[in-house]
Amino acid sequence: MTNADFEKLVDTSDEWIVSRTGIRERRIAADDMTSADMAMEAARRAMDMAGCTHEDIDLIISGTVTPDYRLPSNSCVMQEKMGFPNAVAFDVVAACAGFINGMSIADSYISSGAHRRALVIGTEKLSYFTNYKDRNTCVLFGDGAGAVVLEPCDSGSGVLSTFMKSNGSMRSWLWSKVGGSRNPYMADFAFDGSDKIQMAGSEIFKVAVKEMSNAAATVIKDAGISSDDVSLFVPHQANIRIVEAMAKRLHLGMDRVFLNIHKYGNTSSASVPLALDEANREGRIKPGDYVVMVAFGGGLIWGSALVKW
Ligand SMILES: CC(C)(COP(=O)(O)OP(=O)(O)OC[C@H]1O[C@@H](n2cnc3c(N)ncnc32)[C@H](O)[C@@H]1OP(=O)(O)O)[C@@H](O)C(=O)NCCC(=O)NCCS
Repeated sequence: MTNADFEKLVDTSDEWIVSRTGIRERRIAADDMTSADMAMEAARRAMDMAGCTHEDIDLIISGTVTPDYRLPSNSCVMQEKMGFPNAVAFDVVAACAGFINGMSIADSYISSGAHRRALVIGTEKLSYFTNYKDRNTCVLFGDGAGAVVLEPCDSGSGVLSTFMKSNGSMRSWLWSKVGGSRNPYMADFAFDGSDKIQMAGSEIFKVAVKEMSNAAATVIKDAGISSDDVSLFVPHQANIRIVEAMAKRLHLGMDRVFLNIHKYGNTSSASVPLALDEANREGRIKPGDYVVMVAFGGGLIWGSALVKW
């Protein structure tokens, strides 16, 4: 969907959307394509790239707030459809930080020796969760999925440090009020958008800049390197102005920050793996490079990971 498409739906303009967010287009999944379907496609490509089979995977973690079902998890749906005979599969509900939190969990499990090879996914069908009558939110979101395979290595590369933090006191700044056990759907539900994404955008903006900067700085410090050593920053793609403000706080030139928000909008937990994959395929990441991933989302929750490629 392009910005021109949104001009026909709500009172907005291409100029406003581009200047306030950096978004020009987003991808919308077909009606019959679910978040698990997209996750399976991403998983297949990640396993091809890693050269591993379904039998090799013993841990599946999907970050998603738009699963196919309330029960079971998307990861178990994938396990049923693709067949991972040796894996335990579960989801993490950490909104836009879901992929990074999944990576952090997988890193801990692999480091402890409990698991050998993890498939970590970020997948979202946010289009089903978006109120296309609300101009404050509808122009921001898109659908997508990305995945990585993690396994132990001895070469000094891999995940060097991760960081996760949340603050539930701001939970209503980005939420969906109706549809859970607190406010279940009733027969007289008004379809007023209260079961879709509702957001206090400008409040979130400020916290996102501060906490994404702090999270990036934390993993750099924990890994014992400096931000000058980092070749590429791969931030959550929510708003180009959030990313630019974060880069300014970290004294980074935008040439070391990967951006693809103009093509996809905010795809929540899929955002970081989509960006990481594009950066890799475009040759922006070379063996030995330090790469920092950082994300922030509804909860509020945020996290970061530093990887030596
Ligand atoms: C949502 C966001 C783009 C809004 O940008 P902003 O510069 O903060 O804009 P404001 O909220 O101050 O709104 C400014 C005006 O633009 C209007 N506006 C909002 N959406 C609009 C749209 N799509 N088109 C035109 N005008 C719009 C508002 O109604 C407001 O009008 P008013 O001043 O008459 O009340 C920005 O706050 C943002 O990206 N926040 C973080 C969102 C986010 O990251 N969420 C997910 C966390 S992962």
